[in-house]
Amino acid sequence: MEKKELLKKLQEALEFEYTDIFLYNNEAELFKKKIIDGDKIAKLYKNFALDEITHADIISKQIINIKGTPVWEYKNIPVSKSIRESLRSHLDREVAAYRNYTYLIEQVEDRELKVLLKGIRENENEHIKQITDFLKRLKI
Ligand SMILES: [Fe+2]
Ligand SMILES: [Fe+2]
Repeated sequence: MEKKELLKKLQEALEFEYTDIFLYNNEAELFKKKIIDGDKIAKLYKNFALDEITHADIISKQIINIKGTPVWEYKNIPVSKSIRESLRSHLDREVAAYRNYTYLIEQVEDRELKVLLKGIRENENEHIKQITDFLKRLKI
């Protein structure tokens, strides 16, 4: 992969991570206040937000490593009104993140970057599993 293309992809991944950090934190606050028993999902989302911060840090450092400048931007996605809707939309986003990282892992040549991206992807896989579990329990 060309350096320019790699920078673009890493920047997109960074923006995706930041968007999720804001979304998870905002929804955690919202559900904690407004929904009875909202504590569980708030805790889950807060933990996910912390993981996404770690991912954003790793990606920022990698952008700097290849002499790029990380841009701290995020998309303003409206928060979901229900827990179910929120979980479904996060599941879609986590799957999208997993696929984007898979694409990057296949494309990059740098071994260290590959290992780091695999670690992030494994973490997104964990998010997918936990969201799926939460959704299943919600349906009972
Ligand atoms: Fe992430
Ligand atoms: Fe995630």
